[in-house]
Amino acid sequence: MKTAQIRQKFLDFYASKGHTIEPSASLIPHNDKTLLFVNAGMVPFKDVFSGVEKRPYTRAANCQRCVRAGGKHNDLENVGYTARHHTFFEMLGNFSFGDYFKREAIQYAWEFLTVEIGLPKEKLWVSVFEEDDEAEDIWVNEIGFPKNRISRCGAKDNFWQMGDTGPCGPSSEIFYDHGEDIAGGPPGHADEDGDRYIEIWNLVFTQYDKQEDGYLKPLAAPCVDTGMGLERLAAVLQHKNNNYDTDGFKTLIKAIVDLTPKDHNIKADNASVRVIADHIRSTAFMLVDGVIPSNEGRGYVLRRIIRRAIRHGHKIGIDKVFFYRLAPVLALEFKDAYPELKKALSNVEKVLKREEQRFAQTLDQGMGILTEAIAQLKGSEISGETVFKLYDTFGFPADLTADVAREHNLTIDMTGFEVEMTKQRERARQAGDFKISQKGVDVSEVTEFLGYEQLKNTSSVQALIKEGELVEQIEAGECGIVVLAASSFYAESGGQVGDSGILSNPEIEFSVNNTQKQKTGAFEHHGILTKGALKVGDVLEANVDKKARKCIARNHSATHLLHAALRVILGETVMQKGSLVDGEKLRFDFSHDEIIAKSDLDKIEGMVNRKILGNTKVHTDVTNIETAKKKGAMALFGEKYGDTVRVLTMGKDDFSVELCGGTHVNQLGDIGLFRITSESGVSAGVRRIEAITGYAAYQFDNHTQDSLSQIAQMTKSNNAQAVEKVAQLIKQQKELEKQIASFQKQLASNQGDDLINQAQEINGVKLLASVVGGVSGKDLRDIADKLKDKLGSAVIVLAAVNDGKVSLVSGVTKDLTNKYQAGKILNHVAQQVGGKGGGRPDMAQGGGTDPSKLDVALTSVKALLV
Ligand code: ALA
Repeated sequence: MKTAQIRQKFLDFYASKGHTIEPSASLIPHNDKTLLFVNAGMVPFKDVFSGVEKRPYTRAANCQRCVRAGGKHNDLENVGYTARHHTFFEMLGNFSFGDYFKREAIQYAWEFLTVEIGLPKEKLWVSVFEEDDEAEDIWVNEIGFPKNRISRCGAKDNFWQMGDTGPCGPSSEIFYDHGEDIAGGPPGHADEDGDRYIEIWNLVFTQYDKQEDGYLKPLAAPCVDTGMGLERLAAVLQHKNNNYDTDGFKTLIKAIVDLTPKDHNIKADNASVRVIADHIRSTAFMLVDGVIPSNEGRGYVLRRIIRRAIRHGHKIGIDKVFFYRLAPVLALEFKDAYPELKKALSNVEKVLKREEQRFAQTLDQGMGILTEAIAQLKGSEISGETVFKLYDTFGFPADLTADVAREHNLTIDMTGFEVEMTKQRERARQAGDFKISQKGVDVSEVTEFLGYEQLKNTSSVQALIKEGELVEQIEAGECGIVVLAASSFYAESGGQVGDSGILSNPEIEFSVNNTQKQKTGAFEHHGILTKGALKVGDVLEANVDKKARKCIARNHSATHLLHAALRVILGETVMQKGSLVDGEKLRFDFSHDEIIAKSDLDKIEGMVNRKILGNTKVHTDVTNIETAKKKGAMALFGEKYGDTVRVLTMGKDDFSVELCGGTHVNQLGDIGLFRITSESGVSAGVRRIEAITGYAAYQFDNHTQDSLSQIAQMTKSNNAQAVEKVAQLIKQQKELEKQIASFQKQLASNQGDDLINQAQEINGVKLLASVVGGVSGKDLRDIADKLKDKLGSAVIVLAAVNDGKVSLVSGVTKDLTNKYQAGKILNHVAQQVGGKGGGRPDMAQGGGTDPSKLDVALTSVKALLV
């Protein structure tokens, strides 16, 4: 049974048992900061288990793409070395939300395995939680499963939890016995880690929601969460002991083997081949789901996996950029199950290629250093310094180094590595730019922010920071940071840049170029003291740069309108991924699969401008998060919200409702005008729009108008007709080019006739070595072919000179090629005019850069015939 059929059979079976079939969710958990990736089929239902979210059904089933790399369930180390581990896999699962419990969960599983797909009962083994008599009773007395094939295991094996917090409970697992030819024992036995008894299905009886403090909070109603690895089941049904030998991996593995050099004799069962096959699956899907390679969080997991794959490619002798080439193979494999991969393919390829090109620059060198370190090694552990050097200079993630170490039966010193990392952070802090180095000093004062209502206030200096130290005084000409008790300056947050302006009194002037917020709540006014001496306790008037602030507010409000318009035009799947608002422009990143059509961009821009013209008042409410969500406020994934939140509402019928701490215009009309200046891709599944507003947008339009007027002038038309005029000119030009080409052909053929007379007889062979005037290099070949026909038996060398460059063609009729070869003759001539060329014995082409040597070079051909 093919993998695709198994997937479908499972879903059909559970649909027939009253389950709603849900499509696979994204790999990035929605609304959950505790998980890096969706690591089980139940994750998309997490809030349904805990009762926070209600769905119209109480039974569901899915086939969910999962990643287990980084975080609680991490299989990265095992990939390629065991028969059954993957960083990416598909999990089949059925779920009950307070509906059925242990009995039906076990009965359904049994029916599916033994009736629906017909697994022999005697090949199965079962484990239950050591305290769970009820489950064992169901297995033995209701199913009739032999008691001597049931293992009772502890919490390590039979108590499942999603992460450190969240839904969890005791479980019962079903194993398949791959037969006595394979080493290993049943669950709970000393040799359970072998590959003989493979867990295929985990039935979790979800009863608790684990809290941050470890408390197991009972769920209102007991639930069921099951998970069965599709790849493992496919292996069982296809009588394979290794997941990588199933149909789902076949084309991928073949594609990888094909990329390896023949003399390395790499086979499909090579561990590196399997690692690469696994890694292309996880990385491609991470990219589809919007993860961007980076040096932290999810992005770093992605980068690490890509680099591991590349290193394994290197190990099996692939010496070109290869990894991205596997993405189309995968897309084809998954075209029905996950069509989103095909849609995002070009982006996936682009990012993978870029990542590989980048890493390829340091991989060889890093491997050289590592090999050397291993050769010199006295003990069995690679030092933290070496691991750090490889990380810092050559971009080797620590786990990549560990992977190489393991191949030599060595380990790495992770503690030593962490020590080096801490040292480096400290160095960076000291040597970092002014802003960063100042950050080391925390000030306990909380600055009161007044800047929503006013752009000016008077306050006293609470603290002064200079070169990373708290000081009592700053002198004129010195840079520093001023912390005030209250400030109208907005401190950078939520994508909006910090304010600039002046802090002053009659004796003192401090020019602020940036405002930042400390975690403690103190506002740092960064800048330079231009007048006087500034002391802690001084009272200053804080004046925000009004013009800059107005521009920022326009761009920020326009960002909200843009976000709302994107969701109307492109759909509700548009999610904010990042935003930057400063005085010049706005930049908005969001999840979307494809390039946005010009017509959609026009609609989006038009919609935002209509809202601006509507000129409604912008409303700000301070309320709690629940009320805000009810109002439809878009909360950002991963953001922490306090007890009170600010809700910004814009446009008629609550066109845009967003949680936001930023500063905005009073009326939408204040934005003036909105123009999109660019649309581009940031990574797979993430697009970026940049736009401008207000006077900047007016100037942008003015510029465009100017260019149009100039074109009109040059084409002797007017603004309204300029486009048509240019189109006409382009058409004319094309026609002229065609005419020229046909004249040239004509000329060439005439020339050919003239040339025949120039042929001379050398040593009984007709030789024609001439310059042909007025033709392009491309035409030479045709002329040579014709001359060969006409002369019957000859050696021909023709040259043309255009733009200071020499084009050459040499032709030898078939009867002479055993004596004279066109390629050799051509090379002989080309070398003399500073170039090269080559080709077949009867026809060769080339060129050179030095026309002054051409005559001599052509004459020299005679000597070749004697
Ligand atoms: N959530 C359970 C698992 O992943 C079924 O094993």
